[in-house]
Amino acid sequence: MRALLLENLHPLASTILTEAGIEVETRPGALAEDELIAALERFDLLGIRSKTEVTKRVLAAHPDLVAVGAFCIGTNQIDLAAATERGIAAFNAPYSNTRSVVELAVANIIAMARRLTERDKALHAGIWDKSSEGSHEVRGRTLGIVGYGNIGSQLSVIAEMLGMQVYFYDTDEKLALGNARRCSSLEELLDSVETVTLHVDGRMGNAGIFGREQFTRMRPRSLFLNLSRGFVVDYDALRDAVVSGHVAGAAVDVFPVEPRRRGDRFDSPLRGLPNVILTPHVGGSTEEAQEDIGRFVGTKLRDYVQTGSTALSVNLAPLTPGRSAHAQRVAHIHHNTPGVLARVNQVLAEHEVNIGAQVLATRDQTGYVVTDTDSGLSPGVVRALRSVPETIRLRVID
Ligand SMILES: NC(=O)c1ccc[n+]([C@@H]2O[C@H](COP(=O)([O-])OP(=O)(O)OC[C@H]3O[C@@H](n4cnc5c(N)ncnc54)[C@H](O)[C@@H]3O)[C@@H](O)[C@H]2O)c1
Repeated sequence: MRALLLENLHPLASTILTEAGIEVETRPGALAEDELIAALERFDLLGIRSKTEVTKRVLAAHPDLVAVGAFCIGTNQIDLAAATERGIAAFNAPYSNTRSVVELAVANIIAMARRLTERDKALHAGIWDKSSEGSHEVRGRTLGIVGYGNIGSQLSVIAEMLGMQVYFYDTDEKLALGNARRCSSLEELLDSVETVTLHVDGRMGNAGIFGREQFTRMRPRSLFLNLSRGFVVDYDALRDAVVSGHVAGAAVDVFPVEPRRRGDRFDSPLRGLPNVILTPHVGGSTEEAQEDIGRFVGTKLRDYVQTGSTALSVNLAPLTPGRSAHAQRVAHIHHNTPGVLARVNQVLAEHEVNIGAQVLATRDQTGYVVTDTDSGLSPGVVRALRSVPETIRLRVID
């Protein structure tokens, strides 16, 4: 197997793959579509970050590609439907930067409560502004978390450790951690807390869910944070709420339109406001998160190659078959229609191949069956399995 790793991935990714006997070539930047098509000629695995687009055309040009690893959180840059149609597994690292986002939220909550950025700016300007006015401890204060997923729930635990009283609102039924209290509506949460922090996901329905009405509903002199998605909040309304003093501070890490490159100009109605902390979408950007991403996706690619494991794949049915104690393993990705498993097993039976172990999972239109056989597979059996009409991809794993 050979892997092409683009976009300066963390070196751990190369180490993990190399130690598994996979030949690795690394390149620093992203590749445009045609460059990627040319570069992939000799490779079975591709590792990218967010800047390389793995389009339908790229996948059509390389139908034998085994897997794509997105060494980042999102997978919008991969045509997942086209990858699934060709039985190409895709993996990402959905949890690697959760802790980093939580730590930035905690830092922001304390910084706003103590008006740290104002004190810092004044002192850099040569002004000794020593005062306790408007500065608060966070201990004993109420925090309202909107979106109690990976980030929201971890923030809940850490905020309680700081002595905060946590309330949360989630559209799904979620287990309340520690002493956190569930609110049955956003309005109930807004009525209950002094600090509101958004951690909802990026589904289209969340566009503009937090605007003038919600800022008005917040308790006077509340604090507000958005580290989720820029399009969720009406920032003109936030600006007005801060200028009027109704919102005492805000921390914003995500914006509806974000500059593409480091050093590009940034504009927002929130620039220049007092006690408003603006950060350039760095919630998840830490060296620890990058290392974790390298380890997480590197391991997923390695395990898929070695065992056929699709655990946490973003497009294939999840199976974690572990290492085989049998002679040979066949990983068979197929169209999810009735009778496929029977047809696979019929081929094996006709060729007198005994099945030592077998696991099946399905996801939407695709099925995945991993079969361990007690004897080696002849080229004839492999050919017969490939010709099962529903077969998308068949891989023999030694
Ligand atoms: N700032 C950064 O650098 C950074 C880094 C990582 C993630 N994020 C963003 O943080 C957000 C949360 O990430 P996560 O991993 O915790 O996601 P997640 O999918 O685990 O959690 C999102 C939660 O929000 C809930 N939800 C969705 N819409 C809601 C609504 N309208 N009201 C209440 N609850 C709602 C969902 O049910 C889910 O429990 C995402 O938008 C993600 O893109 C930002």
